[in-house]
Amino acid sequence: MTTPDPELSALLHESRQFDPPAELAAHANAQPDVYQRAKEDRLGFWADQARRLTWDREWDDVLQWELPYAKWFVGGTLNAAVNCVDRHVDAGNGDRVAFHWVGEPEDDTRAITYRQLKDDVCRAANALTDLGVRAGDRVAIYMPMIPETVVAMLACARLGAPHTVVFAGYSADALKTRIIDCDAHVVITADGSWRKGSINPLKPAVDEAVSECPDVRSVLVVRRTEQDVDWTDGRDVWWHDVVDSASPEHVAEMFDAEHPLYVMYTSGTTGKPKGVLHTTGGYLTHVSATCRLIFDMKPETDVFWTAADIGWVTGHSYIVYGPLANGVTSVMYEGAPDAGGKDRWWKIIEDYKVTILYTAPTTIRTFMKWGEEYPRAHDLSSLRILGSVGEPINPEAWIWYRKNIGGNKTAVVDTWWQTENGGVLITPLPGITRTKPGAAMQPFPGISADVVNNEGRAVANGEAGFVVITEPWPGMLRGIWGDDERYKKTYWSKFEGVYFAGDGAKKDEDGDFWLLGRVDDVMNVSGHRISTTEVESALVSHPSVAEAAVVGASDAVTGQGIVAFVSIKAGVDEEGDAGAALVDDLRATVARQIGKIARPRQILLTPELPKTRSGKIMRRLLLDVAEHRELGDVTTLADSSVVSAIADQMEAST
Ligand code: WTA
Repeated sequence: MTTPDPELSALLHESRQFDPPAELAAHANAQPDVYQRAKEDRLGFWADQARRLTWDREWDDVLQWELPYAKWFVGGTLNAAVNCVDRHVDAGNGDRVAFHWVGEPEDDTRAITYRQLKDDVCRAANALTDLGVRAGDRVAIYMPMIPETVVAMLACARLGAPHTVVFAGYSADALKTRIIDCDAHVVITADGSWRKGSINPLKPAVDEAVSECPDVRSVLVVRRTEQDVDWTDGRDVWWHDVVDSASPEHVAEMFDAEHPLYVMYTSGTTGKPKGVLHTTGGYLTHVSATCRLIFDMKPETDVFWTAADIGWVTGHSYIVYGPLANGVTSVMYEGAPDAGGKDRWWKIIEDYKVTILYTAPTTIRTFMKWGEEYPRAHDLSSLRILGSVGEPINPEAWIWYRKNIGGNKTAVVDTWWQTENGGVLITPLPGITRTKPGAAMQPFPGISADVVNNEGRAVANGEAGFVVITEPWPGMLRGIWGDDERYKKTYWSKFEGVYFAGDGAKKDEDGDFWLLGRVDDVMNVSGHRISTTEVESALVSHPSVAEAAVVGASDAVTGQGIVAFVSIKAGVDEEGDAGAALVDDLRATVARQIGKIARPRQILLTPELPKTRSGKIMRRLLLDVAEHRELGDVTTLADSSVVSAIADQMEAST
């Protein structure tokens, strides 16, 4: 366990503050009494939020809490898909656009109304039923950012079949591990996805993964990129063959509030990813309430855009379930930020009059690097709220975002949360909070969070410590799929009775939260969680590698960058071209086992790794090397010349 990064703590010197925009404050969904109301009656507050959904049967108890297991809205029944789609059609809003979908190739767009979405979800639910999918069965989804992905997720939800969406940038190997871990028997995919004008094939990865998953009986394939694909008769079916022809009538079954909705895999501190389990009633309540109060969603007028991938939790909660539960119109964009030009996003905002934009600091910093002229060339005046998520946002990026994208007039909300949380936990409210650039500010109403020291005691304002959540919340994970021990150990054993997030934070003199990054072996690269152990085990699986140590070095654009120190087995040639070829091969090995996102930014081949006398690799010193800092304390090392040699090598290589 490392203490929070002192450089990030320096953020606390930021002293600028921004009042909520007056116009927004006057009409905001969240008025200042919301905090008081939630404080006086936390469960009553959440029950009010839950009542904004449509229940078939209301709950008997709001919460049953037997540490560390929570049940929310006990005895209530509902259907998530009905809440996201049918009820808006039933309320007369079927003609409202649910998604303005923007494909990567220009002019490849679709507007999908709530009515069309309902028909498509029902068709897909019928088709999945014909493929044998029943309530409780897991379905794996490995898809591009296309409307069918949303349809597939909602069809699963409608049937009570928990989906597990695997980010399409993950490798066949990673997909296979996840399919096996949650024992999915059906996989939904596409032939490929578009990435900057070229095809990123998906079906071959599924073929490879499924060849080692004997229990997968059906692969449902959407045609998107239209290249030839291999076909296994009896197993593979085209979406357009079975979904398009299915009936748009489907009577939804109602499920218990605690019925599993999805499993989302995320990296932990060991090599094996964790299947984070979310259930129906509490999760939907949490994402729906946060959309309404943080993003101030007004379904009649807003156009919301979460620019993230559906393969991550941000996409689940803020592209699919949260916005749809509110019946708002969203934009969904398929491609890279610079596909068709570095102003592609700004063109989309202008074309669709986007009012709320939600994205990650790493993307904002990329835009900063590209320059202000790209947003300046477009009319972005429709925007009223800008959101940030995924990693700490540095004040410079916050200010740049507000000025160049928000025209110095929008609210900016820095929202802190995790896959395990389901929805946002710490955030400003745009019509209430006087924001500070770089601070996530305060727990959302109905959320109890604190910062504690190593003994679990609350720290004084101004001191750094660990983020804990002190009361259960509706969107919290209900467990790790198939690994109860790990659930208890990871989140509930560090401190008695509270949820341990694994993040460092500081509360300032006003008690506002500043998040300081992870305190464990999880890296955050462009807002993606990647464990050092996972990358290390991929590297050591290479026949030439003896040992590997991986650190997340701070990076001006991606937040952290992966730097690997690799020692090679005796007799392996690591000089000149042979060394360069080996490094390429190592990067390819990581891409194959995890995915391209986990490829190290830099790999240093070294004769030895620095170790303590008891043989433990000193990653802290390697981080100093990777960040070009003076080396910290080397007295516990068995041989301090090892690390100085590595430092010299690093300086020579950069
Ligand atoms: C980090 C993404 C600072 C944090 C929703 C957390 C943040 C991890 C913020 C979860 C933020 C997310 N400020 N750090 N606003 N938002 N993080 O599971 O370290 O992909 O633990 O969920 O991202 O990443 P995950």
